[in-house]
Amino acid sequence: MSRAIELIIEKQQHLGFLSPEVPPEVWSRHRQQPKLRLGVLASGSGSNFEAIAQAIADGVLNAEITQLVYNNPEAKAGDRADRWGIPKQLLNHREFPSREALDDAIVAAMQQQQVDWIIMAGWMRIVTARLINAFPNRVLNIHPSLLPSFRGAHATEQALAAGVKVTGCTVHQVALAVDSGPIVIQAAVPILPGDTPATLHARIQHQEHQIYPRAIALAASGVWDEG
Ligand code: GRF
Repeated sequence: MSRAIELIIEKQQHLGFLSPEVPPEVWSRHRQQPKLRLGVLASGSGSNFEAIAQAIADGVLNAEITQLVYNNPEAKAGDRADRWGIPKQLLNHREFPSREALDDAIVAAMQQQQVDWIIMAGWMRIVTARLINAFPNRVLNIHPSLLPSFRGAHATEQALAAGVKVTGCTVHQVALAVDSGPIVIQAAVPILPGDTPATLHARIQHQEHQIYPRAIALAASGVWDEG
């Protein structure tokens, strides 16, 4: 790769083509509402979980993460919860006989904490009606593509293989079909010459961290439901 292309990639590493802002009226409505109680589900690194914690610490998001539920003992998200002093609970999917049984345990944990919204932040399990019906229209997910393109576990690889020039990330309400459900916010991200799944995912993640707190405020403010 030429140095010129490297420089373009460096400069545009964190560039989003379109990273929508939430209007000030939505923020003011959000901040006048009671503090949201969020329960976060994460399976891996937890950078989105931390971005939400940071937005709360910065006073951007009027919320509290009441607990992190994670399903892999090695998930870095668990370490992040410790650093932030956020209670965490391991529900290891391997110890449950079915997806429904895992979801019942999640619902019980979240209801016990009186959680308002479930925030899936890199939750690598397919959720069932048990979870969705217990929190109707109150489960959000983030996915590293512009849905409905590139559903599933390898969205960045799929985007590169398809040769598209723009991809991005989507926050959406969770429905039964994987990576479907009404879209709350999307950000578009360029694919640059020489991108690998890792460089592209890093650029997408930068946008994910911007849009997830905004999507929570937007969805919870009720403005979004009003269309
Ligand atoms: C994100 O890219 C998200 O879109 C996908 O899983 C990844 C989780 O990243 N669902 P992190 O664990 O929040 O760093």
